[in-house]
Order: sequence, then structure tokens, then C-alpha cells
Amino acid sequence: MISPSIGVCYYPEQWPSEWWEDDARQMAEVGIKYVRIGEFAWSRFEPKPGQLDFSWLIESMDTLGRHGLKVIVGTPTATPPRWMLTKYPDMLAVDKDGRPRGFGSRRHYCFSHLGFRKECARITQLIVDAVGQHPALAGWQTDNEYGCHGTVLSYSDSALQGYRAWLKARYGTVEALNAAWGNVFWSMDYADFDEIDLPSLTVTEPNPIASLDFRRFSSDQVAEFNKVQFDVLKAARPDLPVIHNSMCRFTGYDHFKLAETLDVMSWDSYPLGHLDGAPEPQDLKTPYFRQGDPDSSGMHHDLYRAVGRGRWWIMELQPGPVNWADFNPDPLPGMARLWAWEAFAHGAEVVSYFRWRQAPFAQEQMHAGLTRPDREPAPAYFEAKQVAEEIAQLKFDGKPGKARVAVVFDYQSEWAWEIQPQAKGFSHLQHVRNCYVPLRKRGIEVDFLSPATSDFSGYDLVIIPALFAWNEALRTAIADFDGHLLIGPRSGSKTEDFSIPAALGPDLPRNLLDAKVIRIDASNPIHKVSVKGGGNVGHWRERLETNAEIVIEDEENFPVLIAQGRLNYLAASGDRALMQRIIDHLIADADIPTLELPAGVRCRTRGKWRIYFNYGDQPATLNHAADERAYVLGNADMPAAGVTVAELATGG
Ligand code: GAL
Repeated sequence: MISPSIGVCYYPEQWPSEWWEDDARQMAEVGIKYVRIGEFAWSRFEPKPGQLDFSWLIESMDTLGRHGLKVIVGTPTATPPRWMLTKYPDMLAVDKDGRPRGFGSRRHYCFSHLGFRKECARITQLIVDAVGQHPALAGWQTDNEYGCHGTVLSYSDSALQGYRAWLKARYGTVEALNAAWGNVFWSMDYADFDEIDLPSLTVTEPNPIASLDFRRFSSDQVAEFNKVQFDVLKAARPDLPVIHNSMCRFTGYDHFKLAETLDVMSWDSYPLGHLDGAPEPQDLKTPYFRQGDPDSSGMHHDLYRAVGRGRWWIMELQPGPVNWADFNPDPLPGMARLWAWEAFAHGAEVVSYFRWRQAPFAQEQMHAGLTRPDREPAPAYFEAKQVAEEIAQLKFDGKPGKARVAVVFDYQSEWAWEIQPQAKGFSHLQHVRNCYVPLRKRGIEVDFLSPATSDFSGYDLVIIPALFAWNEALRTAIADFDGHLLIGPRSGSKTEDFSIPAALGPDLPRNLLDAKVIRIDASNPIHKVSVKGGGNVGHWRERLETNAEIVIEDEENFPVLIAQGRLNYLAASGDRALMQRIIDHLIADADIPTLELPAGVRCRTRGKWRIYFNYGDQPATLNHAADERAYVLGNADMPAAGVTVAELATGG
């Protein structure tokens, strides 16, 4: 673990080398400790095949190192140079309509292309040879944002060959595949694995299990691609962390699987850009357009903390307006500080701003940095400096403790419900969020769990929001758990082979939950049905046959929440009011302590500190919490975008 530190992303190759010394000096003045470089620089490492130039990389690392800065070197595999395409014209990913994607931006490769994978191993080894022992080197980043710009799925010939081999390894015989896939339907039987095509260009929808297996295969390709670089980097420097940076609301591959070949997980946080493009209602977007959604960053921090098995960074943090959303507002003053504090509070080791200086050229010229194109400081420069000073002054450190509530996050369920939404827009992530937000509004901390978890002990409440299919681990965890459980709509409604289970969903043993989903009402979310006692259901409503206790029902007398002992099953998609009511009911039942937070304020404890963030654009006043000794940064009266740190009486 690294004590909380500030970082920055820097592109020495984009600036005259005479500027590097000043840049490094200023970075050190800001209090920056980590600098990520190199991740897009392949054409400057290897301008022509085999013609190498690492001198500038070494020189820039020398310069940064002279100022006490530690360097994370990125492998440049997200931007293969133009000559690579001449060498491997078929290395481009192919879209669903069969069109190869073009050169001229980035991420123009197919994960399954074995020739390109070899090139990645080669350039990684060359970088290791050049700077692997450099004294400023502190770690590696593999590639950049796997899957960004819709690049996980590729319908190339390499992918086709890989998919067939993957299917053969999974099913053994084509007869077994036919049976598992239900290929008796529509005469889809195959006589050989070589007859199977990728699930695109079919006349109407492909078999959902073919699509899901393609998503599973494609996710595995990302993990295998990463492993190639991980192996090279670890062989050279087993002591240095290998990191990858993921994204917001991004579920294209199974991150838990990727993280098997990573030491540290990281993600890139752009709260305003994310909110602008998020499928969230206007009544959230309007009040927070300069601050970001008060629960989105927190949810991703918690998720990536789970993915990184406790070790995670923010590799890129928004420093000002970005360039890539439909609208790119200027953050409220103070937010670049608040976002960093929030990440540290959730356990980040390093928070690194993107980028040191705004580039006056190319695609991202409208994207702010800590400094402006004229080399003068931009507002976030001072906010980053303030954070660095504050964490140093407080000696802020410690671990985020185990939460009392956990949410199971399953990437496969994301894919399954995208493939077969049944109600347009039904998503696993949205159901995760519907449970997460009401908890956070009560000051309750949340851990995420991988679906491979077989033991829920230590938690008071575990939530499984909208799980596609049970696995043995989860069945064991549920059977052995004596805390409260909330199992959400659609959970257990399919088998791993994407069929309806013989016992129908939620497919739990009767002694745990005596209930069967016998029919689904999947309607346009504009049709809402009110629930007795408050809130609405809509979009997804299950008709149940059950002997369990009916805790909440709707105005049409259909059960909404049922309970058998401590196991609760939610049979519908609820609106915000209903979800708050259900979560409040469960936290009262499970006796989980809450905090009274002003609207727009969230908090998180780490070690002996509790950190409050005011996402509101108006001042807010905190209620004194009994377990706090004193405010050590800020106080109970929080300005808009303010941060207050309380020291806990118990020592955390
Ligand atoms: C990230 C990416 C960076 C940069 C940034 C702009 O997605 O990793 O390279 O493009 O967005 O906000």
C-alpha cells in the first residue's frame, strides 16, 4: 500500500525537451509524487519497424527523478503506429456490420490478433530493457482503457478462429454445444465447430447463448491480452506494481478476471462528462451539472476497490472542462479538490490528474489540464496543490474498514440483460445503483463482492441486485449466511446456458425462499403502478406464486417485496422513493447505524477519519455524529463543493 499521494499524467514527447525541467520542478512544487508517462508513444519509441529510440524516455525520467518524482510507465499498445497496419492489415478490429475500424485515432486493434499480441510482448520487453532498472521507475500501466470507444467486441477473422476454439474448449463436442444452446430451435444445429459463425449479420436476433458466449469469449480475450504484458513486466520487475486503468459505467469485460493479472486496479474519473452522458433523469443532471452525480464516483471507487482486492488508484482525474461529452461545463470551483478527497476517502492510494498541460493540437485540444497551453497554471493546479498540502498536514492515511453492507457485482449479468432486455433499457448496473444510492444517502458504506464469493460472513446485509444465473459459490454463500439478504428482480431467472431453469426463477431451495416467478410484466417505464405505502414500480414486474410473507404490495395487489426469515426478494423495478423505503426497512431490520446527512452531502470513513463532501452548489450544515471527536479540516458549515474531515473518537 502507498500512502495517499497526488499524481499527474504527462506527455514529455508532446513538448520541447527544454520545458521538461521546469515542468518537473513545478510538479514537485504542487506536491505531485507520481507521474504517468509513455502510454501513447509507440511511434516515438519505434518510428520505423525495429528503429528504436528510448533516449527521450530515459532523459525525461532522469529529469522527473531529479525532482523526486516517481514514474509509472505505460505500455503504448493502445496506439499501434501506422507501419504496424502495413505489416498486419488484418489486425484491425471489425465492427458488427463487418467493417474494419480505421487508423487515425486510437485503439485500432483486435484483442484476438495473435501477431499483434506478439508485437505487444516485443515492445513491452524493449521498454523493460530500456527503463526497467531506472531509479525513478515506480510501476507500469498496461495499455490504456481496454474496451474504450466500443473496442472489446471485434468480428474479425482472428476473433472467429478464437471463438471457435474457445467454444470447443468449453463444450468439448458439438453435440454438447447443440444441446446446451438449444439448437433444436429453428434448425440451428451444427455438425462441426468450424461451421459456427460470430453472432452478427444474422437475419434476426442470434441465439442469446451464442451472443453471451461471444461476450464471455471477448472478455477472456482482454484478460489474455493483458497477461501477455503482465508476464513480461513481472518477469523483469516482480517488485513493481502492474496497473490498468478502467472507466466509469464500463462493463464490457469481466474486471475481476482481468485483475488476476494486475497488482493494482485503477480507473479514470471524469465526473462531469460521465453525468452528461449517463442515462439518468434530468432532475439529477440539472442540479449537479458542475459537480457530477454525488453517488457515481463513490460507487466506482467501491467497485474498483473490490476489483483491485483493496489496491486501487485514480489514474486520471478530471481537472476542468473535458472535450468528449455533448456538453463540457467548467466544474464548480473546489470540485477538483473534492473529487480527489473523495477518492482518498474510499481508499485510493494515488489520485492522478489528467493531464499536466492542455495540448494546443489534435483531438483533445479543448481538454483542460493542471496548466494551460501557455504554460500558466489553470484553476485545478491550485486545487491539486491544496489537496497535497492537506493530506500531508493531516498525515492522512489508514485503510477503509470492512463495510457492513455488500453488493454482489456480476459483469456477466450486464451482458445477459443487454442481450435480452425484455424491457428496453433494463440493466444490471441500474439495479445495482438503485440499491447503492439509498444506502449512501444514509451514510452507510458499501463493499462490492465478486460473484465468485462463497462466503458472506461479517456483513449484516448483502444485496444481489439482478443476477442472471446462480453459481455454486453464491448458492453456498446464501445457504450459509445468517445476515439479511436482498435479492432483486430477475435473479436466478436463467441457467448459465441462458435457459429458464426447470424450477423457474428465482430458483432457490424452498426452505430459503418458497417463491416462483410465473409471469413477467415488462412494460415501458412510463407506465408506473403505485405501491401501497409509497413509491412506484414499473418497467419490470414479476407475478409470483409464493408462500413467503408479503411485506410490500402494489395497488394492483401484486407482491413487490416478500420475505422468508432474513431473505428478502424484490419482484419489481422500483423508483427512487420505493428503493429508499425498502433499504430503510432493511437497515432498520438489520440494525445498521445511519448518519443524518444534508441533501447532496456524502461521507466515507478511512482509518480514524470521516470525510464529508458537499456535492451541492449551496452551503450545507452537518449534524454532529456521536462517534466523532472533532473536525480537523473544515467544519460543520460546508460551503458548496466543500470538504470536511472529522477525526473519529474511536480511532477508526
Ligand atoms: C481517457 C483517456 C485519456 C484521455 C482522457 C480525456 O478516457 O484514457 O487518454 O483521452 O480520457 O478525458
